[in-house]
Amino acid sequence: MKSIRKDPVIRIKPGFLFQHKYYLYPDSFGMIRLKKKIVIAIDGFSSCGKSSFARLIARELVYIYLDSGAMYRSVALYGLQNGLIRGKIIAVEELISELNNIHIRFRIEKGENITYLNDENIELQIRGSEVSSVVSAVSKIPEVRNHLVMLQRQRGRDKGIVMDGRDIGTVVFPDAEVKIFMKAESEVRAERRYKELVEKGINSDLDAIRRNIQERDEQDINRDISPLRQAEDAWVLDNSHMTFEEQMDWFKSVLIKRDLLLKS
Ligand code: DC
Repeated sequence: MKSIRKDPVIRIKPGFLFQHKYYLYPDSFGMIRLKKKIVIAIDGFSSCGKSSFARLIARELVYIYLDSGAMYRSVALYGLQNGLIRGKIIAVEELISELNNIHIRFRIEKGENITYLNDENIELQIRGSEVSSVVSAVSKIPEVRNHLVMLQRQRGRDKGIVMDGRDIGTVVFPDAEVKIFMKAESEVRAERRYKELVEKGINSDLDAIRRNIQERDEQDINRDISPLRQAEDAWVLDNSHMTFEEQMDWFKSVLIKRDLLLKS
């Protein structure tokens, strides 16, 4: 008889000690075995498929997956919900003073990574256009970055983690054993984003998504603090015309080149 596992939970609170066993994917495949426990940092432009790829890798390795973008989105949503962000105006000092009241958790429900903000399921809200249009500005606030980077490092302390974002290989884990930098053609990215939102039941407009992707690329690359950069030792993956299977084959080839794969 199959044993019943509790819903896996990630709690992200300052000072909270994380327990790996609670938030591994219940359907982890565990098909790839490594010689040692490592950190895998995946960075790249928005809507490149970083999250999907990171999730797949986490499942194959039976590793934790952490979506750092969802953490920035959660802070942005908290600001919107509490009147600290109105239009493009952010009450920066107030938002900073609220950081310790923003408790972000991830749960894996029916195979999906679901984000909770102070016990509210906010997965749909953080993917919508309201949050998307302010999150880059929120992610430029140094105190917000420092706070979230501290939480991300806590999470990766015991390794066995795949984290995706913009600065994971350059700032959060400069010593990550495997760094991947993902790219894809902008039209492909816009279409993927559109499809993803439609599948989640979020009303979307392809032209608006194109503009948002372009704006976010510019903001991510040009911001003063932790801009999106390819780490010197990152492996570059352009997945514009690749299936998930091809991406996994590419990933395995990286593991072989890094002599990390345990031959069975
Ligand atoms: O990956 P995403 O689109 O969900 O990220 C949302 C925003 O957060 C995006 O504008 C860039 C920012 N971000 C960041 O600055 N650093 C990270 N490590 C992850 C995301």
